[in-house]
Amino acid sequence: MDSEDETRSMDVDIAAFSPIEKGKGRAVGQPLDDEMLPWVEKYRPVTLDDVVSHKDITTTIEKFIDKNRLPHLLFYGPPGTGKTSTILAVARRIYGPEYRKQILELNASDDRGIDVVREQIKQFAETRTLFARGFKLIILDEADMMTQQAQAALRRVIEQYTKNVRFCIICNYVNKIAPAIQSRCTRFRFSPLPIVEVEKRIGTVIEAEHVKLTEDGKKALLKLSKGDMRRALNVLQACHAAYDSVGETEIYNCTGNPHPSDIENIVNSMLSDEFTTSYQMISTMKTERGLALQDLISGAYEYIETIEFKPQARIYLLDYLATTEHRLSAGASEKIQLSAMLGAFKNAVELSAR
Ligand SMILES: Nc1ncnc2c1ncn2[C@@H]1O[C@H](COP(=O)(O)OP(=O)(O)OP(=O)(O)O)[C@@H](O)[C@H]1O
Ligand SMILES: [Mg+2]
Repeated sequence: MDSEDETRSMDVDIAAFSPIEKGKGRAVGQPLDDEMLPWVEKYRPVTLDDVVSHKDITTTIEKFIDKNRLPHLLFYGPPGTGKTSTILAVARRIYGPEYRKQILELNASDDRGIDVVREQIKQFAETRTLFARGFKLIILDEADMMTQQAQAALRRVIEQYTKNVRFCIICNYVNKIAPAIQSRCTRFRFSPLPIVEVEKRIGTVIEAEHVKLTEDGKKALLKLSKGDMRRALNVLQACHAAYDSVGETEIYNCTGNPHPSDIENIVNSMLSDEFTTSYQMISTMKTERGLALQDLISGAYEYIETIEFKPQARIYLLDYLATTEHRLSAGASEKIQLSAMLGAFKNAVELSAR
């Protein structure tokens, strides 16, 4: 009995890491070494109902499935908003727990050049599965990385095999997908998750994992996640592993983002202190806390919104922050940019006083 159980669990394990799946999209319900899984996988939605926030999308797709009229799908939107999770839930809904046999999932880690479209995808589309009715599903995840040629080859394939195959194309940037492919698919945009939805989902994880998260910590976590559920879960898990009780400071320390009070000090110093004092204070702080000027700029941007300025000074400052950010992204020197930014703050104060 014991050994039989063991072999069975081995089976599950192998299936979970079958080449099609590439270790992605493990179901939540499987208790197998759950403890070792990152929370994003452990708490990946199993059913369409588990996918939070995109109710309009999930109900529409459910209607398609019920009427057996699933079109080709195109999911797009920022990272961590549930695109991959949704299509895996759809597959599970259509084919049941054995869904892996009916789908071909290719993501950015697989080669998806024109040869793969010609051979692997066509082959999968052509072979009909015995006993199974309906269509098979081909999931092209992270499709914005596919070459133009491969996309061009895909156009005809999509049309040719519509009878027994449905495609689901997933990407972050929809403009990287050829218009001809877009027009063959029904498009769904996955917008960043609203904070309340992230909060709800995080709440269940906090309870299940017994995380000690303070109110301030939760607020900071939600703010930093910016509607990306994966980020929220990863930060939470990292903080939980590193600290017994997780508060605001722990969240900021863990992510390497500057603490709002530090930003406040820095901006206030730039506005009122003398140039050299301010420069030295910021430089020391940058070294001590390991802050990047880029993070300071995004923090300062948010803080400036709350300060009263004359319109022309505010416009000048915002414009300057944007320019500095651009220069930094092009590899400009942090030291020079910091002094220039300090100068801009002094100018803004003068403008405001006029
Ligand atoms: N709408 C959602 N409801 C519940 N959990 C979600 C949702 N979106 C994301 N998650 C959580 O975040 C993790 C990552 O989600 P998923 O892989 O679906 O993101 P994605 O949209 O495919 O992102 P990417 O564009 O980076 O591939 C999931 O494992 C899940 O735990
Ligand atoms: Mg994905």
